[in-house]
Amino acid sequence: MSDDLKAAAEKVSRNAYAPYSNFHVGAAVRGANGTIYSGCNVENVAYPEGTCAEAGAIAAMIAAGETRLTEVYVVAASPTPVTPCGGCRQKLAEFGDAEVRVTMAGAEGVEMQMTLAELLPGAFSQSHLEGSTS
Ligand code: THU
Repeated sequence: MSDDLKAAAEKVSRNAYAPYSNFHVGAAVRGANGTIYSGCNVENVAYPEGTCAEAGAIAAMIAAGETRLTEVYVVAASPTPVTPCGGCRQKLAEFGDAEVRVTMAGAEGVEMQMTLAELLPGAFSQSHLEGSTS
């Protein structure tokens, strides 16, 4: 994992809109083209309408015309490294290979690394759709 990805995630976390949880998350993904895309969580008074930092980073990547990611960094000021929620694991798996490394970080620089396959074993994928008999 390179420092530029970490720096982008830390920087965008400062823009998180999280007045309800007060939990500020930043995510940065590196596109296959080498460019970094970042996003933060955006909460809403209607709680389920809030979006995660990972979703924001993915949206920025797709909006820029890149569809594959090669590296992910997620950071929040939590005592243990922040792990992507279940929905975000599926969202990340849509755009990254099984071996893509996800670095999760918490307060005081504590980090943990897992691959997308480790985060989402048995992921639902295109292969399931192709095998359908209906
Ligand atoms: N959150 C993220 O943005 N990403 C994660 O990986 C975990 C959780 C956000 C959602 C919500 O705004 C806040 O953190 C508390 O759950």
